[in-house]
Amino acid sequence: MSILITGGTGFIGSHTVVELIGAGETCVIVDNFCNSKPVVLDRIEAITGVRPRFYEADLCDEAAMERIFEENPDLESCIHFAGLKAVGESVAKPLLYYQNNLISTLTLCRVMQKHDVKRIVFSSSATVYGDPISVPIPETAPRGLTTNPYGETKQMIERILTDLYRADTEWSVSILRYFNPVGAHPSGLIGEDPCGIPNNLFPYVTQVATGKRAFLQVFGDDYDTPDGTGVRDYIHVVDLAQAHLKALQRARKVTAVECFNVGTGTGYSVLDIVKAFEAATGRSVPYRIVERRAGDIAACYADPQKAENILGWRAQYSLDDMCRHADNWQTKNPNGYDT
Ligand code: NAD
Ligand code: UD1
Repeated sequence: MSILITGGTGFIGSHTVVELIGAGETCVIVDNFCNSKPVVLDRIEAITGVRPRFYEADLCDEAAMERIFEENPDLESCIHFAGLKAVGESVAKPLLYYQNNLISTLTLCRVMQKHDVKRIVFSSSATVYGDPISVPIPETAPRGLTTNPYGETKQMIERILTDLYRADTEWSVSILRYFNPVGAHPSGLIGEDPCGIPNNLFPYVTQVATGKRAFLQVFGDDYDTPDGTGVRDYIHVVDLAQAHLKALQRARKVTAVECFNVGTGTGYSVLDIVKAFEAATGRSVPYRIVERRAGDIAACYADPQKAENILGWRAQYSLDDMCRHADNWQTKNPNGYDT
């Protein structure tokens, strides 16, 4: 039996494929390379010794998706990573985000249903909680108002998958709400490869530490947090990948729609990250405090107890590991996969 991995050459998908192969699973990847590169397949093979079957296709192309299911009658489940994820771009190009993220998911589900494959693990985000009333955030917290089209596609897809299960209880739907995925595989062969200037904190910090950028801009130091800078729940991407394996194992046992926070439960501030990075790498991370970034919230971290109780999953890697592994990837691949 095999698992369809949509977006499997992307940052989180590639790490998950490595963990799945390590656990003896067979993966079939589909990706259109709109935000990843073919060389990722070589790197997966270098780490695992296995080259997964790969299809270059757009999930919105129903005929192409049909062909994949026809050619792989042993598909039994799907982990659905494919999607566009840049918050700022989604504000500028809402139609592109709704079109790509929603139509791809609807097409995928329709083809899955037709081929009687009714098990799906979906990449959602803590963004669905909006500005939380309190932290840590349990899964039962109200889903807040999303502030951008990207976040809204996650809300909508959660709803679509829930309705799908309600209409046909043979489905097994596992919704994973990621907090802030960071770090890289310890080998330094796969990692995050943002295009242009990184928006997110970790890739920016690694580029400052390796001298590619002069200094970090810390977006505000007047939040209601211990040191005034924003607090987040950073989760090592290999821990996150492992959570998918556990979610899949659970989905094979129960038919249900379930959602799980995937975070460590610990919040770190921007200045905590700067200090941890300096301590882990022995290099300095110059920074300047600047204005708050529009749309940012003060603090966001998970209550990860449900994932531990039901999936038997708990994060293993420390903040020091996240910093060392992010740095190892950046040092070995200064231009990402273009090196
Ligand atoms: P990524 O951009 O590295 O990977 C997504 C992959 O999907 C890319 O390889 C891209 O080429 C592919 N893709 C996009 N649209 C496609 C389409 N229509 N057809 C085929 N392939 C398509 O992103 P990632 O960081 O690995 O994120 C994976 C998933 O997790 C996304 O759904 C994202 O929204 C979600 N997520 C990510 C984060 C994060 O911080 N990285 C946080 C929360 C949720
Ligand atoms: C971002 C996304 C969110 C997504 C999440 C997980 C935005 C507005 N939101 O949120 O939708 O679910 O990533 O990937 O992009 N910071 C700096 N300087 C920088 C970059 C960031 O000080 O150069 C600060 C931010 O203000 C924040 C923290 O670092 O306090 C983390 O920022 P970031 O990595 O962008 O993640 P989120 O804001 O949590």
